[in-house]
Amino acid sequence: MCGIVGAAARREVAAILVEGLKRLEYRGYDSAGVAIINHQGEIGCHKRLGKVAVLDQAVTEQPLAGSLGIAHTRWATHGKPSEENAHPHLSNNEIALVHNGIIENHEQLREQLTAQGYVFVSQTDTETIVHLIHSIMKKGEDLFSAVKLAVEQLEGAFGLAVIHKNEPERIVCARSGSPLVLGLGIGENFLASDQLALRQVTDRFIYLEEGDFAVLSPDSYDIYDAQGEPVKRKLVQLTDKTKSADKGQYRHYMLKEIYEQPEVIKDTLRGRISKDKILEQAFGAQAKEIFDKTKAVQIIACGTSYHSGMVAKYLIEGIAGVPCRVEVASEFRYRKFVVQDDTLIVTISQSGETADTLAALRLAKTLGYAATMTICNVAQSSLVRESDLALMTEAGPEVGVASTKAFTTQLVALVLLTIALGKRNGLSAEKEAEMVSSLHQLPQILSEVLTLDQSIEKMSEAFADKHNALFLGRGVQWPVAMEGALKLKEISYIHAESYPAGELKHGPLALVDSEMPIVAVAPNDELLEKLKSNLEEVQARGGELFVFADNNSGFSSGDGITVIKLAPVPELIAPIVYTIPLQLLSYHVAVLKGTDVDQPRNLAKSVTVE
Ligand code: G6P
Repeated sequence: MCGIVGAAARREVAAILVEGLKRLEYRGYDSAGVAIINHQGEIGCHKRLGKVAVLDQAVTEQPLAGSLGIAHTRWATHGKPSEENAHPHLSNNEIALVHNGIIENHEQLREQLTAQGYVFVSQTDTETIVHLIHSIMKKGEDLFSAVKLAVEQLEGAFGLAVIHKNEPERIVCARSGSPLVLGLGIGENFLASDQLALRQVTDRFIYLEEGDFAVLSPDSYDIYDAQGEPVKRKLVQLTDKTKSADKGQYRHYMLKEIYEQPEVIKDTLRGRISKDKILEQAFGAQAKEIFDKTKAVQIIACGTSYHSGMVAKYLIEGIAGVPCRVEVASEFRYRKFVVQDDTLIVTISQSGETADTLAALRLAKTLGYAATMTICNVAQSSLVRESDLALMTEAGPEVGVASTKAFTTQLVALVLLTIALGKRNGLSAEKEAEMVSSLHQLPQILSEVLTLDQSIEKMSEAFADKHNALFLGRGVQWPVAMEGALKLKEISYIHAESYPAGELKHGPLALVDSEMPIVAVAPNDELLEKLKSNLEEVQARGGELFVFADNNSGFSSGDGITVIKLAPVPELIAPIVYTIPLQLLSYHVAVLKGTDVDQPRNLAKSVTVE
C-alpha cells in the first residue's frame, strides 16, 4: 500500500505532486508528505497527519518551491500514523526517500546504523533505507550506485524513490515487489505507484519490472535491470477510454460506482458474447489450448475478489462440472497442498497488485499447475503481466475502498469462464444460448434493481443504531451474503457476519434477539423453501428480518419482517442481481452513521504489503 509520486521537471512541481497524491489516496490515507529540492539546493519538506487535503493546505500556506521532488501518502505498517512516521524520510537533510512496501530486516539494519551514529526519528522500517543510502554515499558513491548497493542489503518488498540535494536533477527509483511506473513528458519525467496519479501530466508510461532501477531527470530516463545492466522496457500510450475518476453528481464515489454497474457490465460483455454464444478468442490466443486441457480450477484471491471466487465455485462445479477449489491467497501461499493434474490457476483481483495474490500466483507457477489466468481490472498490473491468460473486467477506475462494480464485473467474467469450461464438458448449445441471453438481459435488470434505492435507504434506518448484523443466504447466495456482510462492516463499522442459513442452528441462532438485524437474500431458487424454514427459526426467536426476495417467493412485510421485492431473474445471474441491494443497504447505513464512506478507517484499496 502507500502511494508514491515523483517529478523531475523544469517547472514548479509541488502542485503536481500533491495532485498525484490525491489520486493515489486509495492506497492509504493516514498521513502524507512531500519533499522538494528548492532553488538554493536545499530539501524542503512538509509532512502532515491525516489526508492529503491537510498536506495540500500546508503547501498552500507555506509553499515549497522547486522543480524536482517526491511525495507519499501512507498506510501505516511499522509505527502508528504520525507526522514523524510519515514519508518522505530524510537523512542529515541531504537525502529524502519515499517507500512503499515492507523491509523485513529493518531491525538488524537499524542496529547497524545506530552503531554508526545515525539517529532515528521514526519507528518506520523505511527510515533505515535512507540512512543506509547515506552511509554508503559517505564512502564516495553517487546516489544511483548507493541506492543499488543499499537495495542489495534489503529483504522484503519495496517500491522506492530517492533524491539527494547535491544531485538536484535526478530521482533514483527501484522496484521489487511493489509497483512503479514512469510517466514521460516533454522536458519532464515522472514516477508513481500507479499511472492514475500522473494522468493529469502525461499519457505515456513505462512499467518497471521486478528488480528494475530507474534514474529520472527532466530530459532523460534510464532503466537498469537487477544486475545493473541498461534495459529497455515497453512504452505504453494510454488512450482516454479509461473512465473518469470524478464523483460527478454523486455524493460519494461508492454510490457513483454502484450506479455505474449496468454500464460497466455492458462494457465487460462487449466483444465477449454474440447473440447466443461466448466469443472465446476474447480470452486470449492461448485460451483454446489451455481450456481444452483444464480438468480442475484453483481460484486464489483476497477480500471481495475472494467472494467472487466463492460464487464461481458454485458455477464452475454446478454448471461446468469441473472441480473448483477457492482459497484466500494469504492461506494458499503458506500451506502444503496437493496439486491436481491439469489444474488452471485463476487469480481474481481488482488492482492486480495485491501482495498475497501475486505471491500466490508466483508460487503456483513453480508447482506444476497447467496454466495461469487472471480476472483483473487493471490492464498494466503485475497479475496481468505474469499470467498466461487475462480476462479484463471493464469496471474502469474504482475509487471507493469498498469494492462494488469490480465485484459484479468479476462475476460476469467468471460466468464467461464457466461457459467456456462447460462447453468442453457437455454444456449444450441450447444451454449456452440460454445463459448468454441471461447475460444480455443483465444490464437492464440491474438498472431496474437500482430503482429500489429509496426503499433500501428507508430500510437502512433500522441498522444505524445496531452493533451487529447477520447476513444469510443458501447455495450460491451464501457468498453473496458474505459480500453483503463485508460491505457493511467495512464502511459502517457495524460488526456483520454471514452464514449459510442452514448453519444457523449450529451456533449463530444463540445470538439472535431484537438487537440483531438479520438480512437474507431469497431469490426463487431450489433452496427457497429451505431458506424459509431457516428464517422462521429466526422469527420464532424474536429476530428482525430484512429480506430481499423474489416477487414470487411468498415473502411479505409484516411484524418483524421487512421485505423488498425483486422481479424474477434467471438463476445464473441472480448472485449479481442480489448483490446490488446489499451494496445500497451498506452505503445508506454508513451515510446515516456519518462514516467516511469512500475511505473507511484503517483500510486501503490496494493492499500491496503482506
Ligand atoms: C483490499 C480492498 C478490497 C479488495 C481486496 C483485494 O482489502 O479494500 O476491496 O477486495 O483488497 O484486492 P484486489 O485488488 O486483489 O481485488
